[in-house]
Amino acid sequence: MARITAGVGCSHVPAIGVAMDTGNTNDVYWKPVFNGFEKSREWMKKQNPDVIFLVYNDHCTAFDASCIPTFSLGCAAEFKPADEGWGPRPVPVVKNHQKMASHIAQSLILDEFDITIMNDMEVDHGLTVPLSVMYGDVKPEEEWPALVIPLCVNVVQYPPPTGNRCYNLGKAVRRAIESYEEDLNVVIFGTGGMSHQLQYKRAGLINSKWDKNFLDLMTRDPLAASKISHLEYLRETGSEGIEMVMWHVMRGALNDEVTEVHRHYHVPASNTAVGHIILENNT
Ligand code: DHB
Ligand code: FE
Repeated sequence: MARITAGVGCSHVPAIGVAMDTGNTNDVYWKPVFNGFEKSREWMKKQNPDVIFLVYNDHCTAFDASCIPTFSLGCAAEFKPADEGWGPRPVPVVKNHQKMASHIAQSLILDEFDITIMNDMEVDHGLTVPLSVMYGDVKPEEEWPALVIPLCVNVVQYPPPTGNRCYNLGKAVRRAIESYEEDLNVVIFGTGGMSHQLQYKRAGLINSKWDKNFLDLMTRDPLAASKISHLEYLRETGSEGIEMVMWHVMRGALNDEVTEVHRHYHVPASNTAVGHIILENNT
């Protein structure tokens, strides 16, 4: 059977992708950001997942105001990196495990999570930057080392789903994955965050104390973390901090008790607090 062996929480700051794509990762500004991912890249090599179930958000790339699904699952054979204004990032096309994605769609919907099925979708920095930071440079003509099943969550247009809904979806994702018959090592990513606000009077807001407590809760008390309200995210972490609801899908898919094997927190990268955690399922 397929097994979820670990979860990864990770910010998706687009400028991190640009720093990699333009060879600037050793700059004084960027070096401390990337140093914190060295251990993660070694861990990824050892962990060597067959499939990454990647929970992320789209930023008006695949969707615009004309259609806003709360949860959508990538069921296409592949997903091209989108052009976000400077041309598509020079990274490989993302390949799906299509049979497993179909199984997950069926399992989630029959488990009463009404998922939108995406048979054609481009992916933006929300998905490609976490892959880049975890794998390092992968040339566009190469392949990502794992297949990727994307689950896209609306955090752009209010109301996004609650942390509780995301946490429970994570549990349903686990049931879906662990009822798939192929022997596969699956790692689940929850992406976005941490504190940041890109607009208006509070633009530039970062709340390290709150973020670090959130990382603690991810390891020790995921249920308490899942109860954090939208208003608290907005007040404490800025308007874009709401991206963190996606981490609860990842955390809900893991055991209650996990082992934290790595953590990295750095301020700032672009306008954002970078947060990262690796949690292994205790067996
Ligand atoms: C930034 C952060 C984001 O999460 C995003 O989607 C776009 C920009 C930033 O910090 O610049
Ligand atoms: Fe974002």
